Amino acid sequence: MKTIRFGLIGCGLMGREFASAAARWCHLLDADARPELVAVCNRGAGAFEWFRRHFPGIAQYTHDYRDLLANPAVDAVYVAVPHHLHCEVYCAAAAAEKHLMGEKPFGIDRAANTAILDALERHPNVFARCASQWVFFPGAQRIGDLIERGAFGQVLEVNTGFLHSGDLDPNRPINWKRRIEHNGEYGCMGDLGLHVCCLPFRAGWIPRNVRALLSDIVRERPDGRGGMAPCRTWDNATLLCETLDSATGSLFPWTVKTQRIAPGHKNTWYIEVYGTKASARFSTLDPKRLDLLEYAGGEQVWGAVQTGHETVFPTITGPNFEFGSPDAILQMWAAFLHELVHRAPLRPFAGCATPADAALSHRLFTAALRSHARGSVEAVEPPAG
Ligand SMILES: NC(=O)c1ccc[n+]([C@@H]2O[C@H](COP(=O)([O-])OP(=O)(O)OC[C@H]3O[C@@H](n4cnc5c(N)ncnc54)[C@H](O)[C@@H]3O)[C@@H](O)[C@H]2O)c1
Repeated sequence: MKTIRFGLIGCGLMGREFASAAARWCHLLDADARPELVAVCNRGAGAFEWFRRHFPGIAQYTHDYRDLLANPAVDAVYVAVPHHLHCEVYCAAAAAEKHLMGEKPFGIDRAANTAILDALERHPNVFARCASQWVFFPGAQRIGDLIERGAFGQVLEVNTGFLHSGDLDPNRPINWKRRIEHNGEYGCMGDLGLHVCCLPFRAGWIPRNVRALLSDIVRERPDGRGGMAPCRTWDNATLLCETLDSATGSLFPWTVKTQRIAPGHKNTWYIEVYGTKASARFSTLDPKRLDLLEYAGGEQVWGAVQTGHETVFPTITGPNFEFGSPDAILQMWAAFLHELVHRAPLRPFAGCATPADAALSHRLFTAALRSHARGSVEAVEPPAG
């Protein structure tokens, strides 16, 4: 089995999710490549304790990501740092010729994203992808299969969304994810948006214009030091996009909801596709279930398919069991390594989000900011080519 030696920059929540996925790589049945965590970098030292306890093989601990990027024993990096650092660190990773798994939104704003894509263009040997794991849920993969087969017929309407409710509590202290200077102008769109755009983008569904409504609901939060701090990031966003189906040339409405204040939802990622020949709905609220309606004339009947743990990359867990968030992360990493080694995804919908997907999401969110500010419908700049 091929070993890819990884450096991790940013040892917070997502950094540890990656380390945990690497530690249970044996769960995958026939992976032909595996990640080995050999170096870690974090701003504060506190995070290192957990890594030292669980990963005795890590040879380099540093507070300076440039030291990690200079390490010849590192083949690839996973960069999971706050958004204002994406541009600097991703560009440096490309310049150091390290393969890159970057986190969304892949740059705090459009200018940062453009700089990252330019850096990647200057280093074509660097394989780069953007982390987004939800598409690896079996129900979402089934929808990908239906799209591949053209099973929906003419697409009539698509709804995707990501709903959280942790921020419903106004007493929740502020952190970098609620500070505009660290999280960015996009607010909840930057946090959640690529997750709900990458499957439609992979389907060739390209938003042509957008009308956006953005809400800043909680305007200040406890600063953790006894005072209050302004919270100027958008909490909720609803986007209505006129969208082109590249496969058929038809247009349809696509709504994209990214909400941090969605009462009743802890972490709900969903997609609904309505078409003339079939319709399907999947939500992580009920992660085993895919609602499916296939129409060939006659009665219209919704069925509930149990998708279980049918994964793209086979695991020791059988298909009848439940699939969850850490499983999606493991599948995403298996997809990254597969594509890094083979330079093609195993299946069209089983690849990680590409830099081009991230760039299109930036064009959409930039147009959404304009739309909200002006109360207008704004064109979304089309992808190059
Ligand atoms: N894919 C997902 O489901 C998902 C979920 C949450 C966050 N994210 C994304 O992951 C990224 C990180 O989010 P997180 O939740 O892990 O944040 P976090 O705050 O838990 O971790 C960020 C880490 O980066 C470190 N850091 C800050 N500046 C640094 C620097 N200059 N050099 C090295 N380390 C530095 C911090 O000390 C911290 O440990 C963000 O882009 C976020 O949008 C993705």
